[in-house]
Amino acid sequence: MPEERVEETAGEQVSAASIPAAVSDAAEPESATAASPRLPAEKRKRVVSGMRPTGPLHIGHFFGAISNWLKLQEKYDCFFFVADWHALTTHYADTSQVAQNTLEMTLDWLSTGVDPAKATVFIQSAVPEHAELHLLLSMITPLGWLERVPTYKEQIENLRDKDLGTYGFLGYPLLQTADIVIYDADLVPVGEDQVPHVELSREVVRRFNLRFGGLRLSQADYETWNTEDEFSLRAAIYVPGIPTTFKPSSSVQPPRWQDVADNIKVITAAIEEWGYENYIAKVPAEFRNRVLKRLPFRTILREPQPLLTETPRLPGTDGRRMAKSYGNAIWLKDSVEEIRAKAKNMMTDPARVRRTDPGNPDICPVFSYHKLFSDAATIAMVNHDCRTAEIGCVDCKGKMADGLIRWIEPVQTRRREFERNPRLVWDILDAGSKSARKTASATMKRVRKAVFHWEEARKKAGAAGPAIQSPATVSPSAARGEGE
Ligand code: TRP
Ligand code: SF4
Repeated sequence: MPEERVEETAGEQVSAASIPAAVSDAAEPESATAASPRLPAEKRKRVVSGMRPTGPLHIGHFFGAISNWLKLQEKYDCFFFVADWHALTTHYADTSQVAQNTLEMTLDWLSTGVDPAKATVFIQSAVPEHAELHLLLSMITPLGWLERVPTYKEQIENLRDKDLGTYGFLGYPLLQTADIVIYDADLVPVGEDQVPHVELSREVVRRFNLRFGGLRLSQADYETWNTEDEFSLRAAIYVPGIPTTFKPSSSVQPPRWQDVADNIKVITAAIEEWGYENYIAKVPAEFRNRVLKRLPFRTILREPQPLLTETPRLPGTDGRRMAKSYGNAIWLKDSVEEIRAKAKNMMTDPARVRRTDPGNPDICPVFSYHKLFSDAATIAMVNHDCRTAEIGCVDCKGKMADGLIRWIEPVQTRRREFERNPRLVWDILDAGSKSARKTASATMKRVRKAVFHWEEARKKAGAAGPAIQSPATVSPSAARGEGE
C-alpha cells in the first residue's frame, strides 16, 4: 500500500520546543508562520482529520494528536473538525454535553496553536453533506465489509455497558469515509490501528467510482467507433495480469460488441482489484495517453491514503495509558497548583524505595515527561543522577513540574483569552463550517450528477412546455371544485 510519512514526525520525539511560536508568544501569533514557505491551498495536498468532542483535552491528546496537527497545518491544506456525529455513534444515550464539549475541545485546539487562518476548523454536523454522502455510500457498501473492520467486534466487547448493536455504530467507518472523501482528501493522518479504516475507505471509493463513474461505454458508442478506438481498447486489455477474451484473429476484423463488452468487464474487475491508478500504470507507456483519451474512466471520488503517524505515547501519572476514566490525566487547563500536586503524586521507578536506592529513569513516567518538557541539560542530569541516586524523586518531580508549567503557561494564557470571549470560538467554528460546506457542496453536486443523471433526463425532456399552475397556488377548496 502506498503511504507517505510526515518526515518530521517519523521516529522523532515531539518536544515542547516543536510547538510553534504562536503558543509561546501569544502577543505575536504571526511569527509562527514566518519559518516555512507555504504553497497556495490548491497546490498543497489535502489532509482531513477529526476528533470526537469528549470535552477538555489532556497533555496526552496534545502529544498524541494536536502536536501533529500543528505540523500538518504548516504543510498541507488541512480540514480539522469536531466529529460530533461520531460521538453519537457510542454516546447517543446522553447528548446534553455535546455542545459544551465542542466548545471546550475547540478552546484547547485554539490555545495550543491550531490556527483557523491556516486550517479549516469546523463542526461535522454543521456540514450536513457528510450525511448525504454517507447515505449514498451506504447503498453500495456490503455489510460484511463493515462487520469485518477489526475494531468493530472488539469495541462492542470493550464497551459492554453500552448497547452498540446499532445501525449507526456499524456504519461509523463509512461515515468516516464520507468525512474524508467529501473534501477530496489526499491524506488521512492515522496510527497503525486506524489503517484498516482508511483501507475500507479506499475500497468503498473504488466500488463507488466503478458503479457511478467507471468505463461508461454503451453499444451505441461502440457503433460509431473507428480503428483508433479499437486500438485503444486492445491496448487497455493487453496489460499484464488481465486475461483477455479477444482472439488473435480479431485484430484483423472489428471485434463484435459482445467481445468488447466482455473485455470491458474484465478491465473493470482489474480496476476494482488494483485501483485505477495502479491499473493505468500497467498500461504500456506508449499507449497510455490513447487509452486515457479513448476510454475515459471517470472517477467521482478520490481514494485517500493513510499518512502514518508515530506519536510518542505519554503515560498517565500512574504509568498507565493516560485516560479520563483512570483519573491519571494532566489537563491542558489544570491550574499550576493542580499540576504541582499531580506531579508530586506521580508514580516513579517502583524499585526505588529509599532515597539512597539508585533508580531507572527508562521505566519512570516522570522521566518521560522530562523528555518532553525539560531542557537538554536537565534531561541529561536526571538521566545520570537518578541512576546514581544523586537526585531524589521529590526534587526530580519538582524540576519536571517547572518545565511542564513553563510549557503550559502560554497555552493557558491564550485559553483564558478565548474563554473571556467564547462567542469568538463559535464564530471561528461557524466560519470554518461555512467554508468547509462550500467544498463539500461542490463534491455533492458532482456525486449527485453521477448517481442520478439528472441532466440527461432533463435534456431528453427538451425545452420547457407551457407554464402550469403550481399546486401551491391551488387552494384545497378549489381543488375539490368547491369554488371560492
Ligand atoms: N475516527 C476518529 C474518532 O472516532 C474521528 C474521525 C471521524 C476522523 N472522522 C474522521 C479522523 C475522518 C480522521 C478522518 O475519534
Ligand atoms: Fe523517576 Fe526522577 Fe525518581 Fe528517577 S529520580 S525514579 S526519573 S522521579
